[in-house]
Amino acid sequence: MLVTGAGSGIGRATARLLAQRGFRVYGGVRREEDAEALRAEGITPLFLDVTREEDLERAKEALRKGLYGLVANAGIAVAGPLELVPLAAFRQALEVNVLGAFATVKAFLPLLRPNRGRVVLMGSVSGLVALPLMGPYAASKFALEALADALRVELRPFGVRVSLIEPGSVATPIWERSLKAAEAYLEPPPPGTEGVYGRYLEVARRLAERNARRGLPPERVAEAVLKALESENPKARYLVAHPARIRETLLLRLLPAPWRDWLIAWFLG
Ligand SMILES: NC(=O)c1ccc[n+]([C@@H]2O[C@H](COP(=O)([O-])OP(=O)(O)OC[C@H]3O[C@@H](n4cnc5c(N)ncnc54)[C@H](OP(=O)(O)O)[C@@H]3O)[C@@H](O)[C@H]2O)c1
Repeated sequence: MLVTGAGSGIGRATARLLAQRGFRVYGGVRREEDAEALRAEGITPLFLDVTREEDLERAKEALRKGLYGLVANAGIAVAGPLELVPLAAFRQALEVNVLGAFATVKAFLPLLRPNRGRVVLMGSVSGLVALPLMGPYAASKFALEALADALRVELRPFGVRVSLIEPGSVATPIWERSLKAAEAYLEPPPPGTEGVYGRYLEVARRLAERNARRGLPPERVAEAVLKALESENPKARYLVAHPARIRETLLLRLLPAPWRDWLIAWFLG
Protein backbone atom coordinates (compact mmCIF):
# COMPACT_ATOMS: atom_id res chain seq x y z
CA MET A 1 0.00 0.00 0.00
CA LEU A 2 1.13 3.54 -0.65
CA VAL A 3 -0.32 6.53 1.20
CA THR A 4 0.76 9.99 0.05
CA GLY A 5 0.92 12.82 2.57
CA ALA A 6 1.52 10.35 5.39
CA GLY A 7 3.49 12.77 7.56
CA SER A 8 0.46 14.01 9.51
CA GLY A 9 -3.32 14.00 9.91
CA ILE A 10 -5.45 11.63 7.85
CA GLY A 11 -2.54 10.20 5.87
CA ARG A 12 -0.65 9.33 9.02
CA ALA A 13 -3.70 7.72 10.65
CA THR A 14 -4.38 5.75 7.47
CA ALA A 15 -0.82 4.50 7.10
CA ARG A 16 -0.82 3.46 10.75
CA LEU A 17 -4.15 1.60 10.48
CA LEU A 18 -3.05 -0.21 7.33
CA ALA A 19 0.22 -1.24 8.98
CA GLN A 20 -1.72 -2.50 12.01
CA ARG A 21 -3.89 -4.57 9.65
CA GLY A 22 -0.74 -6.29 8.48
CA PHE A 23 -0.28 -4.59 5.12
CA ARG A 24 3.17 -3.57 3.95
CA VAL A 25 2.81 0.20 3.91
CA TYR A 26 4.82 2.94 2.21
CA GLY A 27 4.15 6.49 3.36
CA GLY A 28 4.95 9.60 1.35
CA VAL A 29 6.70 12.29 3.43
CA ARG A 30 8.71 15.45 2.81
CA ARG A 31 10.73 15.74 6.01
CA GLU A 32 13.25 13.46 7.68
CA GLU A 33 11.51 13.81 11.06
CA ASP A 34 8.28 12.47 9.53
CA ALA A 35 10.22 9.63 7.88
CA GLU A 36 11.67 8.75 11.26
CA ALA A 37 8.24 8.74 12.92
CA LEU A 38 6.86 6.41 10.22
CA ARG A 39 9.78 3.99 10.53
CA ALA A 40 9.05 3.74 14.26
CA GLU A 41 5.55 2.50 13.36
CA GLY A 42 6.73 -0.10 10.87
CA ILE A 43 5.88 2.05 7.82
CA THR A 44 8.46 2.54 5.06
CA PRO A 45 8.86 6.24 4.28
CA LEU A 46 9.29 7.50 0.73
CA PHE A 47 10.33 11.08 0.07
CA LEU A 48 7.50 12.13 -2.19
CA ASP A 49 6.32 15.58 -3.16
CA VAL A 50 3.39 14.84 -5.48
CA THR A 51 4.12 17.94 -7.57
CA ARG A 52 7.62 16.69 -8.44
CA GLU A 53 7.89 14.21 -11.29
CA GLU A 54 11.35 13.10 -10.21
CA ASP A 55 9.99 12.15 -6.75
CA LEU A 56 7.19 10.14 -8.35
CA GLU A 57 9.69 8.37 -10.61
CA ARG A 58 11.87 7.49 -7.63
CA ALA A 59 8.89 6.22 -5.62
CA LYS A 60 7.78 4.14 -8.58
CA GLU A 61 11.22 2.58 -8.78
CA ALA A 62 11.07 1.74 -5.05
CA LEU A 63 7.74 -0.02 -5.56
CA ARG A 64 8.55 -1.70 -8.87
CA LYS A 65 7.75 -5.18 -7.49
CA GLY A 66 4.09 -4.24 -7.37
CA LEU A 67 1.41 -2.29 -5.58
CA TYR A 68 -2.14 -3.18 -4.55
CA GLY A 69 -3.51 0.00 -2.99
CA LEU A 70 -2.84 3.67 -3.66
CA VAL A 71 -4.24 6.29 -1.31
CA ALA A 72 -3.82 9.71 -2.96
CA ASN A 73 -4.24 11.74 0.19
CA ALA A 74 -1.70 14.58 0.00
CA GLY A 75 -3.46 17.92 0.02
CA ILE A 76 -3.51 21.52 1.17
CA ALA A 77 -6.30 23.94 2.03
CA VAL A 78 -6.17 27.35 0.39
CA ALA A 79 -8.77 29.70 1.83
CA GLY A 80 -9.87 33.33 1.91
CA PRO A 81 -12.20 35.71 0.07
CA LEU A 82 -11.60 35.04 -3.62
CA GLU A 83 -10.80 38.65 -4.46
CA LEU A 84 -7.88 38.53 -2.05
CA VAL A 85 -6.48 35.09 -2.82
CA PRO A 86 -3.33 35.42 -4.94
CA LEU A 87 -3.37 33.51 -8.22
CA ALA A 88 -0.23 31.69 -7.12
CA ALA A 89 -1.99 30.34 -4.01
CA PHE A 90 -5.02 29.18 -6.03
CA ARG A 91 -2.69 27.58 -8.56
CA GLN A 92 -0.89 25.73 -5.76
CA ALA A 93 -4.20 24.30 -4.48
CA LEU A 94 -4.90 22.88 -7.93
CA GLU A 95 -1.30 21.80 -8.38
CA VAL A 96 -1.24 19.71 -5.20
CA ASN A 97 -4.86 18.59 -4.79
CA VAL A 98 -5.80 17.91 -8.40
CA LEU A 99 -2.71 17.58 -10.58
CA GLY A 100 -0.73 16.03 -7.73
CA ALA A 101 -3.42 13.36 -7.25
CA PHE A 102 -3.66 12.84 -11.00
CA ALA A 103 0.12 12.56 -11.40
CA THR A 104 0.24 10.06 -8.55
CA VAL A 105 -2.46 7.85 -10.04
CA LYS A 106 -0.85 8.09 -13.48
CA ALA A 107 2.56 7.13 -12.12
CA PHE A 108 1.40 4.07 -10.18
CA LEU A 109 -1.30 2.65 -12.46
CA PRO A 110 1.14 0.38 -14.29
CA LEU A 111 1.95 -1.20 -10.91
CA LEU A 112 -1.68 -1.42 -9.76
CA ARG A 113 -3.20 -2.87 -12.95
CA PRO A 114 -1.54 -6.32 -12.88
CA ASN A 115 -2.82 -6.74 -9.28
CA ARG A 116 -6.35 -5.52 -10.06
CA GLY A 117 -5.60 -3.02 -7.31
CA ARG A 118 -7.39 -0.12 -5.70
CA VAL A 119 -7.20 3.66 -5.97
CA VAL A 120 -8.53 5.78 -3.12
CA LEU A 121 -8.72 9.53 -3.67
CA MET A 122 -9.07 11.96 -0.75
CA GLY A 123 -11.94 14.28 -1.62
CA SER A 124 -13.97 16.36 0.81
CA VAL A 125 -17.49 17.59 1.50
CA SER A 126 -16.02 20.76 -0.02
CA GLY A 127 -16.25 18.84 -3.29
CA LEU A 128 -20.02 18.63 -2.82
CA VAL A 129 -20.84 22.10 -1.50
CA ALA A 130 -18.59 25.13 -2.02
CA LEU A 131 -18.74 27.38 1.01
CA PRO A 132 -17.60 30.99 0.87
CA LEU A 133 -14.00 31.61 2.01
CA MET A 134 -13.12 28.09 0.86
CA GLY A 135 -13.30 28.81 -2.89
CA PRO A 136 -9.88 27.57 -4.04
CA TYR A 137 -10.05 24.48 -1.83
CA ALA A 138 -13.61 23.67 -2.93
CA ALA A 139 -12.68 24.17 -6.61
CA SER A 140 -9.87 21.64 -6.21
CA LYS A 141 -12.11 19.12 -4.48
CA PHE A 142 -14.91 19.56 -7.06
CA ALA A 143 -12.28 18.78 -9.69
CA LEU A 144 -11.34 15.65 -7.77
CA GLU A 145 -14.98 14.51 -7.90
CA ALA A 146 -14.79 14.69 -11.70
CA LEU A 147 -11.44 12.93 -11.77
CA ALA A 148 -12.84 10.13 -9.58
CA ASP A 149 -15.94 9.71 -11.76
CA ALA A 150 -13.94 9.49 -14.98
CA LEU A 151 -11.24 7.22 -13.55
CA ARG A 152 -13.73 4.85 -11.93
CA VAL A 153 -15.36 3.97 -15.24
CA GLU A 154 -12.11 3.97 -17.23
CA LEU A 155 -10.35 1.57 -14.89
CA ARG A 156 -13.23 -0.80 -14.09
CA PRO A 157 -12.58 -3.05 -17.12
CA PHE A 158 -9.08 -3.72 -15.78
CA GLY A 159 -10.41 -4.64 -12.34
CA VAL A 160 -8.88 -1.52 -10.75
CA ARG A 161 -11.54 -0.05 -8.45
CA VAL A 162 -11.63 3.66 -7.60
CA SER A 163 -13.22 5.21 -4.50
CA LEU A 164 -13.45 8.77 -3.32
CA ILE A 165 -13.47 9.58 0.40
CA GLU A 166 -15.45 12.70 1.29
CA PRO A 167 -14.65 13.73 4.86
CA GLY A 168 -16.34 16.61 6.66
CA SER A 169 -14.26 18.53 9.19
CA VAL A 170 -11.44 16.44 10.60
CA ALA A 171 -9.17 17.54 13.44
CA THR A 172 -5.79 17.76 11.68
CA PRO A 173 -3.12 20.44 11.24
CA ILE A 174 -4.56 21.41 7.82
CA TRP A 175 -6.73 24.17 9.31
CA GLU A 176 -4.00 25.91 11.21
CA ARG A 177 -1.70 25.58 8.21
CA SER A 178 -4.22 27.14 5.85
CA LEU A 179 -4.96 29.96 8.28
CA LYS A 180 -1.28 30.73 8.64
CA ALA A 181 -0.79 30.72 4.87
CA ALA A 182 -3.88 32.91 4.39
CA GLU A 183 -2.71 35.41 7.00
CA ALA A 184 0.52 35.79 5.06
CA TYR A 185 -1.33 36.96 1.94
CA LEU A 186 -4.32 38.65 3.57
CA GLU A 187 -2.54 40.81 6.13
CA PRO A 188 -2.01 43.52 5.18
CA PRO A 189 -4.83 43.35 2.62
CA PRO A 190 -3.91 43.99 -1.02
CA PRO A 191 -4.06 47.71 -1.98
CA GLY A 192 -7.60 48.89 -2.66
CA THR A 193 -9.23 46.28 -0.40
CA GLU A 194 -8.29 47.75 2.99
CA GLY A 195 -11.20 47.41 5.41
CA VAL A 196 -13.39 45.66 2.81
CA TYR A 197 -13.06 42.07 3.98
CA GLY A 198 -12.15 42.54 7.65
CA ARG A 199 -15.28 40.77 8.91
CA TYR A 200 -14.74 37.86 6.51
CA LEU A 201 -11.32 37.24 7.97
CA GLU A 202 -12.76 37.01 11.46
CA VAL A 203 -15.27 34.42 10.21
CA ALA A 204 -12.50 32.46 8.45
CA ARG A 205 -10.50 32.37 11.67
CA ARG A 206 -13.50 31.24 13.70
CA LEU A 207 -14.36 28.48 11.22
CA ALA A 208 -10.78 27.19 11.02
CA GLU A 209 -10.53 27.07 14.80
CA ARG A 210 -13.89 25.31 15.07
CA ASN A 211 -12.98 22.73 12.43
CA ALA A 212 -9.67 21.99 14.16
CA ARG A 213 -11.37 21.69 17.55
CA ARG A 214 -14.60 19.90 16.71
CA GLY A 215 -13.58 17.87 13.70
CA LEU A 216 -13.74 14.09 13.62
CA PRO A 217 -10.62 12.21 14.62
CA PRO A 218 -8.55 11.31 11.53
CA GLU A 219 -8.85 7.64 12.50
CA ARG A 220 -12.51 7.75 11.42
CA VAL A 221 -11.44 8.65 7.90
CA ALA A 222 -8.73 5.98 7.98
CA GLU A 223 -11.45 3.38 8.66
CA ALA A 224 -13.31 4.46 5.53
CA VAL A 225 -10.11 4.17 3.50
CA LEU A 226 -9.61 0.67 4.86
CA LYS A 227 -13.14 -0.25 3.76
CA ALA A 228 -12.48 1.10 0.28
CA LEU A 229 -9.31 -0.99 0.09
CA GLU A 230 -10.64 -4.21 1.60
CA SER A 231 -14.27 -4.43 0.62
CA GLU A 232 -15.05 -6.89 -2.15
CA ASN A 233 -17.30 -4.33 -3.75
CA PRO A 234 -16.01 -0.88 -2.75
CA LYS A 235 -18.34 2.09 -2.94
CA ALA A 236 -17.73 4.96 -5.35
CA ARG A 237 -17.96 7.45 -2.47
CA TYR A 238 -17.55 7.30 1.29
CA LEU A 239 -19.00 10.35 3.02
CA VAL A 240 -17.40 10.56 6.47
CA ALA A 241 -18.87 13.28 8.70
CA HIS A 242 -21.03 13.96 11.74
CA PRO A 243 -24.60 12.90 10.87
CA ALA A 244 -25.75 16.55 11.20
CA ARG A 245 -23.07 17.65 8.71
CA ILE A 246 -24.15 14.95 6.25
CA ARG A 247 -27.74 16.18 6.49
CA GLU A 248 -26.63 19.81 5.99
CA THR A 249 -24.52 18.89 2.97
CA LEU A 250 -27.26 16.92 1.29
CA LEU A 251 -29.78 19.68 2.02
CA LEU A 252 -27.51 22.39 0.60
CA ARG A 253 -27.10 20.37 -2.59
CA LEU A 254 -30.84 20.02 -3.05
CA LEU A 255 -32.00 23.54 -2.18
CA PRO A 256 -32.60 26.17 -4.88
CA ALA A 257 -29.66 28.64 -5.01
CA PRO A 258 -31.36 31.62 -3.25
CA TRP A 259 -32.34 29.48 -0.24
CA ARG A 260 -28.99 27.80 -0.18
CA ASP A 261 -27.16 31.14 -0.25
CA TRP A 262 -29.36 32.62 2.46
CA LEU A 263 -28.84 29.60 4.70
CA ILE A 264 -25.06 29.71 4.29
CA ALA A 265 -24.91 33.46 4.96
CA TRP A 266 -27.06 32.96 8.07
CA PHE A 267 -24.92 30.07 9.27
CA LEU A 268 -21.71 32.06 8.82
CA GLY A 269 -23.21 35.03 10.60
N1 LIG B 1 -8.87 17.90 7.83
C1 LIG B 1 -10.03 18.00 7.23
O1 LIG B 1 -11.00 18.56 7.78
C2 LIG B 1 -10.21 17.41 5.85
C3 LIG B 1 -11.53 17.30 5.37
C4 LIG B 1 -11.73 16.77 4.11
C5 LIG B 1 -10.65 16.37 3.35
N2 LIG B 1 -9.38 16.49 3.83
C6 LIG B 1 -8.29 16.07 2.96
O2 LIG B 1 -7.48 15.11 3.61
C7 LIG B 1 -6.17 15.14 3.06
C8 LIG B 1 -5.16 15.17 4.20
O3 LIG B 1 -5.30 16.37 4.92
P1 LIG B 1 -5.18 16.46 6.51
O4 LIG B 1 -6.42 17.05 6.99
O5 LIG B 1 -4.71 15.18 7.06
O6 LIG B 1 -4.08 17.61 6.63
P2 LIG B 1 -2.54 17.61 7.01
O7 LIG B 1 -2.34 17.01 8.34
O8 LIG B 1 -2.06 18.98 6.73
O9 LIG B 1 -1.93 16.58 5.96
C9 LIG B 1 -1.69 16.91 4.63
C10 LIG B 1 -0.54 16.05 4.17
O10 LIG B 1 -0.32 16.32 2.79
C11 LIG B 1 1.05 16.55 2.62
N3 LIG B 1 1.34 17.40 1.47
C12 LIG B 1 1.02 18.69 1.25
N4 LIG B 1 1.51 19.10 0.08
C13 LIG B 1 2.15 18.03 -0.46
C14 LIG B 1 2.86 17.80 -1.65
N5 LIG B 1 3.05 18.76 -2.57
N6 LIG B 1 3.40 16.58 -1.88
C15 LIG B 1 3.24 15.59 -0.98
N7 LIG B 1 2.60 15.75 0.18
C16 LIG B 1 2.06 16.95 0.43
C17 LIG B 1 1.52 17.20 3.91
O11 LIG B 1 2.92 17.05 4.00
P3 LIG B 1 3.84 18.14 4.77
O12 LIG B 1 3.57 17.91 6.23
O13 LIG B 1 5.21 17.78 4.33
O14 LIG B 1 3.38 19.50 4.30
C18 LIG B 1 0.74 16.39 4.93
O15 LIG B 1 1.40 15.19 5.22
C19 LIG B 1 -6.11 16.37 2.16
O16 LIG B 1 -6.28 15.96 0.82
C20 LIG B 1 -7.31 17.17 2.61
O17 LIG B 1 -7.82 18.01 1.60
C21 LIG B 1 -9.14 17.00 5.07
